[in-house]
Amino acid sequence: MKWNYLMATVLTALLLSGCTWKASTPPATKPGLEAIRFDNATPRDVLLAGRATFEKSCSTCHALPTSEQVNRFATDEALVTFGILMTRHMANLDDEAAEKVIRYLLALRHDAAP
Ligand code: HEC
Repeated sequence: MKWNYLMATVLTALLLSGCTWKASTPPATKPGLEAIRFDNATPRDVLLAGRATFEKSCSTCHALPTSEQVNRFATDEALVTFGILMTRHMANLDDEAAEKVIRYLLALRHDAAP
């Protein structure tokens, strides 16, 4: 009996703290970058800037991905999500720089990269 009471208290506490945690945690990503889609009309200088940023900020960990690597992602959206992870959390880029890098990755996937 005592044990059940204890369990109930612990579970309730977990549940409550879980809810509080959810409510106070900001969304992991702002909608802006997630909405990026491949656009064949992306200006070449945007793509070149993305590539340059990659060479500066991403190549500390690994080389520029090949088109084969970016094509392993099931969808463009999956690549964008992964690109957000890399640009924001691995390379700490601001959104403006991140957008160009992500556009570059998408162009690479669609054989449209300079
Ligand atoms: C702190 C280290 C680090 C930094 C900085 C970093 N990455 Fe990565 N990246 C990784 C690791 C580790 C993997 C392998 C993850 C996996 O697929 O298991 C990876 C994988 C990738 C892949 C998938 C390639 C593949 O193997 O299929 C892409 C695309 C990518 N990174 C893009 C970027 C971009 C763009 C940047 C810069 C904005 C960046 N990364 C910066 C560590 C890093």
